[in-house]
Amino acid sequence: MADPQDRTAWLRQARFGLFVHVGLYSTLARHEWVMSNERIGVEEYQRYADFFDPDRFDARTIARAARQAGMGYAVLTAKHHEGFALFDTHLSDFSSMAACGRDLVAEFVAACREEGLKVGLYYSLIDWHHPDFTIDHQHPLRDHPDAAALDAGRDISRYRTFLHGQVRELLTGYGPIDYLFYDFTYPWQKDGWAGKGPQDWDSDGLLAMTRDLQPGVVVNDRLGIPGDVVTPEQYQPAASPGQDGPTLVWEVCHTMNGSWGYDRDNQAFKPPDLLVRMLVETVAAGGTMLLNVGPDGRGALTAQDAASLRALAEWMSLHRQSVVGAGAADFRRTHGVVMTQRADRLYLHLLHWPLKHLHLADLGGRVAFARFLHDGSQVRTRSSGAPRAGENYQLAHITPGEQPPGTLTIELPVVRPDVAVPVIELFLRQSPPG
Ligand code: GLC
Repeated sequence: MADPQDRTAWLRQARFGLFVHVGLYSTLARHEWVMSNERIGVEEYQRYADFFDPDRFDARTIARAARQAGMGYAVLTAKHHEGFALFDTHLSDFSSMAACGRDLVAEFVAACREEGLKVGLYYSLIDWHHPDFTIDHQHPLRDHPDAAALDAGRDISRYRTFLHGQVRELLTGYGPIDYLFYDFTYPWQKDGWAGKGPQDWDSDGLLAMTRDLQPGVVVNDRLGIPGDVVTPEQYQPAASPGQDGPTLVWEVCHTMNGSWGYDRDNQAFKPPDLLVRMLVETVAAGGTMLLNVGPDGRGALTAQDAASLRALAEWMSLHRQSVVGAGAADFRRTHGVVMTQRADRLYLHLLHWPLKHLHLADLGGRVAFARFLHDGSQVRTRSSGAPRAGENYQLAHITPGEQPPGTLTIELPVVRPDVAVPVIELFLRQSPPG
């Protein structure tokens, strides 16, 4: 499977996955970057490991919520920038295993497999805990009065050996891993400090080892060298990134409230209907969406995250065909309508609700049947130039004017269906009539 298109076939088919950010930072509950944001030194930070007790972390509940929301895979933070490993690493005692005797990665991998989800692991290239990780412009010690002295004895090559070693543990200890999400590379200088680039991680060597140990694994692009999938973050790509070059596989990742890790006092949650719109916009632009949850300090899904997943599950239970296995449509975009396509089915996601008529260029004569997806009820259509039999066109003042040739007009009920985003499914004719 040399071709990223082949390796990522399942990811492009799934179109929707769950990101799970859990770590020691979840117990501080002030964003997963708390160690850097608050310039917390290692001695103080690692003290919190004594209080790490994710007694309510239930991987099965999380995996089931993902599956019910129509997701096809899940990705867990095996280690985030703070350096705390959620697995049984033999290379450090800064881990969930040492802290509370639990290998959360093993629990997660097993739960995903039981729920039929593809298994993804996130691994941070950055490590603010490791004594050889040199101080850079993101490091918690960057503003320390003795920063230069504290940096002096550090040897990034020793860190590199550790990093490769932990990745090897993840790729050899847990069976087949479907997706490895590395995070991230920042080669630019800032505030007088260097960043870190592919040579710091030995990205080529790391990627070669990854492919060697798990030939089928999908690898993202954050090693700073090309991977299988491009990973824009926290914005809505209007079209496929890099669309002028070769076709790129992409996956956009999003938070529920702007923070990946549990952030107790941040209530800026995206409403569920916005999440649905983000998902269908993504599929319509040819991408996949990875939506994050940040379980709390005891490892439980928060009430808000659980409610959002339930709302997505409700919508997806009726509309999954417009997302799973679907992609960008072959037809021209219409304002307010997000179009996806799955073979001979075209899906119109109506972001607003017009009075009675929706006009679509290019689709006149192309549609054999149209219905609402949520209840399978027919919606009547008319192609311009072909008035429906029995219609009284003498009442010109209450009949919409003729549309340009080739237009399809859809007749909508006055009352909008009570779903987050209504979807009309069009059954396309095999070929346009001659
Ligand atoms: C960023 C952040 C990180 C988050 C990740 C998710 O790189 O540093 O906190 O885990 O994106 O994509």
